[in-house]
Amino acid sequence: MSVQLEAIALCGGYGEIQILKQVSVALKTGQVTAFVGSNGAGKTTLMKLLAGLLPASQGQILLGGRSVSALAPPARLALGLSLVPEGRMVFPDLTVADTLRIGAYLPQARSGWKDRAEHMYELFPRLKERRNSLAGFLSGGEQQMLALARGLMSNPSVLLLDEPTLGLAPTIVDELFEILARIRDTGVTIGLVEQNIHAALNLSDYAYVMEDGKVALSGPSDELLDSPAVRAAYMGVEEEIPVQESGVRL
Ligand SMILES: Nc1ncnc2c1ncn2[C@@H]1O[C@H](COP(=O)(O)OP(=O)(O)OP(=O)(O)O)[C@@H](O)[C@H]1O
Ligand SMILES: [Mg+2]
Repeated sequence: MSVQLEAIALCGGYGEIQILKQVSVALKTGQVTAFVGSNGAGKTTLMKLLAGLLPASQGQILLGGRSVSALAPPARLALGLSLVPEGRMVFPDLTVADTLRIGAYLPQARSGWKDRAEHMYELFPRLKERRNSLAGFLSGGEQQMLALARGLMSNPSVLLLDEPTLGLAPTIVDELFEILARIRDTGVTIGLVEQNIHAALNLSDYAYVMEDGKVALSGPSDELLDSPAVRAAYMGVEEEIPVQESGVRL
């Protein structure tokens, strides 16, 4: 299976402050790759470097085998890399329909935007019901769905999601995970930063556990799910892990 997005020995951070230390990750085509780990581990920083929002001080980023390390975020987006950042940053005064339209601002996405918007309404029926509502009046879960749909309007090959379920009610979280599985099934390569480690490992094919700006552990998600070390460190030692019945995996 080919690799769609790859970071090789990536270093970077905020000005003088180096956060990422030699991070190497690979997102395989059509798979979900999860990034988990404690607060402050560097997950958001990694997403920002991958998308070009922060400069890398060392290392390489390859998209579809091509180096994009020197490209600004719009150029990476034009090549198919879309980041839905932490926090639901939708414009409160734009309607759902207008938000989707501006998500397709790239020249190559513009012409087919109406068809794509209809596809988004199939994927997110809640957004269809609210297509003429202002984004500011949507619930938190609906705003997150809108941010996701907007990220998909550029027709990306890679969708990076930073904590899409943060602060949402459990039923909405389940709904979002099901939608992510459907997006993956359309062939989009997904990079998912997620606090909910159990759900993230259930959905994903491969996962990276980050600690202190480094990859502490990585492997196929089902192996990490069974790993006593992961369970002890990140899922609570004696806690019974509830079996997820929402069918997120298939
Ligand atoms: N703008 C900034 N300037 C300086 N340091 C920052 C900045 N943003 C984050 N950091 C630091 O970078 C480190 C990694 O933060 P990052 O946000 O990438 O972690 P994270 O894994 O996404 O955490 P969380 O789970 O809380 O979202 C932390 O030590 C944090 O304090
Ligand atoms: Mg973060």
